[in-house]
Order: sequence, then C-alpha cells, then structure tokens
Amino acid sequence: MSIDRAGNDVLVTDPESATRSLLEVTDLRVYFASARQRVHAVNGLSYRLQAGRMLAIVGESGSGKSVSARALLGLLPHTAQVSGSVRFDGTELVGLPEREMRRRRGADIAMVFQDPARSLNPTMRIGTQITEAVRAHSDLDRNAARDRAVELLRLVRLAAPQRRFFEYPHQLSGGMRQRVMIAIALAASPRLLVADEATTALDVTTQAQIMELLLELQQRLGMAVIMITHDLGLAASYAQDVIVMYAGRAVEYAQASTLFTRVRMPYTRALLGALPQLEREPHTLLPVIPGQPPDLSALPAGCPFRPRCDAASDDCATAPPFAEHEPGHWWACWHPAEETSQDGASR
Ligand SMILES: Nc1ncnc2c1ncn2[C@@H]1O[C@H](COP(=O)(O)OP(=O)(O)OP(=O)(O)O)[C@@H](O)[C@H]1O
Ligand SMILES: [Mg+2]
Repeated sequence: MSIDRAGNDVLVTDPESATRSLLEVTDLRVYFASARQRVHAVNGLSYRLQAGRMLAIVGESGSGKSVSARALLGLLPHTAQVSGSVRFDGTELVGLPEREMRRRRGADIAMVFQDPARSLNPTMRIGTQITEAVRAHSDLDRNAARDRAVELLRLVRLAAPQRRFFEYPHQLSGGMRQRVMIAIALAASPRLLVADEATTALDVTTQAQIMELLLELQQRLGMAVIMITHDLGLAASYAQDVIVMYAGRAVEYAQASTLFTRVRMPYTRALLGALPQLEREPHTLLPVIPGQPPDLSALPAGCPFRPRCDAASDDCATAPPFAEHEPGHWWACWHPAEETSQDGASR
C-alpha cells in the first residue's frame, strides 16, 4: 500500500515502476562559449536515478552541480551548448523545443533554489503565487486552484495556511519562504524535485526541518529528489545515493551508506578525510582541499584531480574511466584507496 498525490491509499500495481530509472543522464556536456574562451562546466556526466529515491550531488564550488541540474530542465542561458542525453521516464529532454520543455518543467521536474527571497515575487501574496503555479499546469478554475494552493501549504507543513495564504513574502521567515517555494514546486505534482542548495541559507535547525520535509514528501508522494549540497552531513543523513562531482564529472557514486564508509576516489577521501566523525557531525561543510580546482577553460588531459592528488602517477595523464568497480559503486581513478573498515583501518 502507498499513498497517491491526492493523499489516498493505493495499491502499487506495477512493481517494476518502483525500480526502473526515472532519470538517465548519459555523457552530459555543457560548455559556455564567449569570444575569449570556452568554459567546460560539465564534461561527460552520467548517472541514473530511480523513482522515489533521494540523490545528493556534492562537490566543491564550480564543480558543475548547478549547471548540470539546470541542464536537466533546459534552464541555461543561450550561451550554453548542451550535448549528451537526459532521458526522463524514457523521453529525451536534450534538444526538446522550448515550448515542450516549458510544459514539462514543473510537471515532470521542478526545481527549488537557495534563495527564496529572490525567487518569490515580493509584491504578490504567497497564496496568489501558488494559485498561479497551480493554474499554469492545470485547468482548475480559480476557486479550485485556491483550494489546491491551501492544500499545498498544508502539505509543506506551513502553520496556519489559511492565514498565511494572504501574506506577502516579507512577512514570512526564511524557512517559511522555502516551504512556500517547495509548495510552488509541487504545484504540478512533479516526479522529480531538484533542490539546489535549498537549505544553505537557513540556520541549522530550520535546515534540518526543511530536509525532514523533503524526506517526508519524497516518501509520501513517491517523488525522486536530487539535493545539491556542500553539506556532507546532510548528504549522509538524508540521501540514499551520492554523486561526488569534480571538474564537471562524476568521480564517485554509490549508496550513501557505502560511499561514506568505503571511499575509493582520493578526491572523495580528501573531502571526507577531515571528517572522521561524519555521522556524529550533522552539519559539516566541505573542507578546503589544498590546491585549486582546474581552470575549466583550459582543462588538462587526464584526471582533472591529478595536480592535487597524493596518489597521482604517470598513469593519471590518461583520464580514468568512470566505471562500476564493485556492485553499485562507481569511481574514476587509476589508484583507488584501499578499502577501509568503518573504524577507518585499512584492510
Ligand atoms: N552563464 C555562465 N557563463 C559562463 N560560465 C558559467 C556560467 N554559469 C556557470 N558557469 C561556470 O560553470 C562552472 C560550474 O558552475 P556551477 O554553478 O555549476 O558550479 P557549482 O558546482 O554549482 O558551484 P557552487 O557550489 O558554487 O554553487 C563554473 O566555473 C562557473 O563559473
Ligand atoms: Mg551551484
């Protein structure tokens, strides 16, 4: 038994639908061309996400997390050149005409950003903004759309939704505004919600509350979630799967429980190295790793982490493939770290 979007208990009749990939990203590449240079922001990113799961994408600033997420929805500026494949429930999204993309945005995949203050219209009551989002994706009349908007406010657990409906964004706290943004994102019942640093601007307690809400929605609505974060503690606590990105590529991918205990890629290890008590540190931002991320307009051949990597050798002048080396555990490295046990000792 599960619960459908209207809140009714339903029997899942198609067990395969619960396990097949909802999203398949294959060799995604995005570059930005100007007269002076070409910035290679995403360089062959591949991953899959099953329906109803939560995937965290982590990596240093500039590693291509946001650009790759925006590429899913065709939300990049005209200077962006996108290639590769993004299949959503079997439909190719790369190259889809803007009109079709607009129809699918929100309905298939919706996005929540870091700064709700800037995403909401300060001059409109929040109820009106949600009602408009509902009407944009349905043929409900105004009254029915309003009822649905109040229902959405209830769904995102905003206290006193009937009263808040008539308030303006400045009357709400940061956490409440983010709940409103999530309500807008849910207006068309998307099957995938992408939250790009959606809790970064919030204090630690509110951050945890919003993550709990995303988790609840994911489970209740059977929605897949991609959370983009600098916070390894959040990724470890909430996501089921984790991708670590470096220089526009995935460098390690596994279920969270595997990744955080059996790290292989030296870059991920460097991220985690400073965090021996990750599970006891619920809010741990990415540590600073010595050296600089590569210049994306002049990417060297080979492994992009090579200049900063203790394990690097001549082999690394050739780019290692991103491959599944153990069941469900992918990495791109010629010199993966020894497997370690949970207490950190090498085996
Ligand atoms: N419109 C653009 N024109 C040119 N370069 C861009 C544009 N948008 C992003 N980039 C570049 O693409 C690269 C990846 O940026 P992206 O925003 O995806 O990084 P990120 O991993 O989300 O970083 P952060 O953690 O800081 O949000 C960066 O080098 C960035 O400067
Ligand atoms: Mg970003």
